[in-house]
Amino acid sequence: MNKHHVEIDACRCIGCGACVRTCAAHNIELKNKKAETILSDCLMCGQCTAVCPAEAVSISGYETEDIIKTNNERLDPKQVLDVIRFRRSVRQFQDKKIPGEVIDEILEAGRLTHTAKNKQDVSFAVLDREKDHIEQMAVSMFRKWKPLADLFSPMARQNKIDRHFFFFKAPIVIVIMAGDKTNGILAAQNMEFAAEANGLGVLFSGFFTMAANSSLKIRKALKMPKKKRAAMTLVLGYPRVKFLRSVQREKLKVTYL
Ligand SMILES: Cc1cc2nc3c(=O)[nH]c(=O)nc-3n(C[C@H](O)[C@H](O)[C@H](O)COP(=O)(O)O)c2cc1C
Repeated sequence: MNKHHVEIDACRCIGCGACVRTCAAHNIELKNKKAETILSDCLMCGQCTAVCPAEAVSISGYETEDIIKTNNERLDPKQVLDVIRFRRSVRQFQDKKIPGEVIDEILEAGRLTHTAKNKQDVSFAVLDREKDHIEQMAVSMFRKWKPLADLFSPMARQNKIDRHFFFFKAPIVIVIMAGDKTNGILAAQNMEFAAEANGLGVLFSGFFTMAANSSLKIRKALKMPKKKRAAMTLVLGYPRVKFLRSVQREKLKVTYL
């Protein structure tokens, strides 16, 4: 049973039908010029509340607030593309603390990211005090795996697994955990943009994510919920490297049909 419900205030409803048209679950109909839900269960995506001009629709059971949109400004398309073009994985960080408000903003970007079927199955572990301790668990594990990896990969042979192999001395690491990996990855990308907008550099650590999912000890240390897996790990800090140009990528692979 869903803990959320669509509530429609019939006194406020002006019968415009905007909620009926926007409902992906086809769960609202107009009866006597008033909106009514058909079933008590649906995606609870909230589009009906977001589109209602009379503030007649709400979703119960949330402890969080919704916010009226007052700003209709759009991002500049060229700037957006440039952010994507010039972002680089950062592996060199300043020894500088990240303010709590900035971390909160990055987490907020993750919390607000859309999820398939509106599952909202994404949660976060912020590694601060326990960061080094948890990193060393992954380091021991990778050191055990290394001889095998060395057999197959010249790049692995080239890499020494030192104490900072995963987190590169970054001040904060966020492990994104999700039931559905895609949902976690989407949150990760939005969080990277929020971090970059705050002047931070980010590394997606696939290696730590792999270690976290392969070790019960690390899962326990991360307090990972039973039905979730690590979807991605963000390594965050103020960059100690400045990239001066974009890098080349392969030509666009696209088929127009
Ligand atoms: C899903 C994913 C996992 C990654 N995992 C690691 C990692 O474990 N360690 C690392 O040093 N870089 C990691 N990277 C960074 C990639 O190596 C990097 O994105 C790629 O070489 C391109 O460089 P750029 O991000 O600077 O454009 C990862 C990137 C992605 C997208």
